[in-house]
Amino acid sequence: MRISVVGAGYVGLATAVSLAETGNEVCVVEKEMDKLEKLKNGISPFFEPGLEQALNELIRERKISFHQDLKEKIHNSEIIFIAVGTPSLPSGEADLSGLIKVCTQIGKLMRDYKVIVIKSTVPVGTCDLAKRIIRENQEDLYDFDVVSNPEFLREGTALKDAREPSRIILGCGSKKARNIMQKLYEFVDAPVIITDLRSSEMIKYASNAFLATKISFINEIANICDKVGADIIEVARGMGKDKRIGSDFLRAGIGYGGSCFPKDTKALIQIAGHVAHDFKLLKAVVEVNNLQWKKVVEKLEFLLGDIKKKTITIWGLSFKPGTDDTREAPSILIIKEINRLGGVVQVYDPVIKGPVGGAFEGVTFCTDPYAAAEGSDAVILVTEWQEFLNIDWQRLKKGMAQPVLIDGRNVYDPHTIVANGFYYSCIGRPS
Ligand code: UGA
Repeated sequence: MRISVVGAGYVGLATAVSLAETGNEVCVVEKEMDKLEKLKNGISPFFEPGLEQALNELIRERKISFHQDLKEKIHNSEIIFIAVGTPSLPSGEADLSGLIKVCTQIGKLMRDYKVIVIKSTVPVGTCDLAKRIIRENQEDLYDFDVVSNPEFLREGTALKDAREPSRIILGCGSKKARNIMQKLYEFVDAPVIITDLRSSEMIKYASNAFLATKISFINEIANICDKVGADIIEVARGMGKDKRIGSDFLRAGIGYGGSCFPKDTKALIQIAGHVAHDFKLLKAVVEVNNLQWKKVVEKLEFLLGDIKKKTITIWGLSFKPGTDDTREAPSILIIKEINRLGGVVQVYDPVIKGPVGGAFEGVTFCTDPYAAAEGSDAVILVTEWQEFLNIDWQRLKKGMAQPVLIDGRNVYDPHTIVANGFYYSCIGRPS
């Protein structure tokens, strides 16, 4: 099939790649000129394992192309995927202005039947809004359908998740659209769930909110473990064996970050608020997360006393390994707080090599984990990159002013670290 994908973010590009790989002719529309130029040259605009290689192969085989304006390709497309960003407004609501612009343009330009698929995470009722906008902007009445097809990929494993999805959710209003979408996905080995538009939109928010709830829940249990002397790794292991609970997303640490959970939990609270429902449980999830990053600073102060003029090393800046994304990353808050308390910060991240936007100004960027710990009074592991899992502890200790290690992700074995002469603290484990 001939497909346009509007928006070249994680969702748009991973969708475009997986659809092009299953035999479709895909055109990606991206309005930002510098991003577009990179893509035309086979360069990924962000760090995502495997993406650049996949793009280059598809460009060579002429299965994917890049354009600045939907105008250039809309008449050649049977299906238009919308994967533009829906960032949080100050109120917590999703900003739909990008999506509304695209729908307006589709309405104005379309001359025959199209399926418009909303991939972006959007509040319940947005597909109906999209239908209205498209209809209002048409010069003549052309038939079309809007489909809700939320995406569940994770940054860092975006391509794998797009190629091997856990499920395909299709919110379809018509049989015609349903048949087209089922045909499009017939090569993908995953259960297809066909439902109505609003349930489909809700599935996305409910899934992310549930995963965020699991994380805040296990973090609270870890905070209690810290006080009662239990070990959160053992507790999560024991809980996870129950299939009804499941072992995924039970890793305690410094809380969730990224472009999805923080934004989507706040948006769902707003959606509930609009229908006069006080979503108390989700509010507590957000509140727990807003406090969780502070645990490592509290532990730092407990081990070092006053941290004024002390040098603190941060390992990892991105919100999770495998990405250069620092949106809502706990590292930003931790570094700010250390600076506020008078500490000096040295950092190392495998992919982030300098300040990003307004963040990380004034910190010293180092070339490797050991250089970042040179002369330092404490190391805090913030992002569990693979590189931090194979550390030569004696080499690290030699370079440090004081052998203090705070493990914000519970990735190290406390006995090994203590046996190497470190003062060690993690989240919810005796050490
Ligand atoms: C998340 C969802 O997992 C995807 O299914 C969804 O498609 C995506 O949001 C989205 O809405 O676009 P992502 O934010 O890329 O994906 O990353 P996750 O792997 O879910 O991690 C999110 C945060 O939770 C990270 O900060 C991670 O460190 C934290 N986390 C995750 C924990 O603290 N503990 C865990 O056990 C798991």
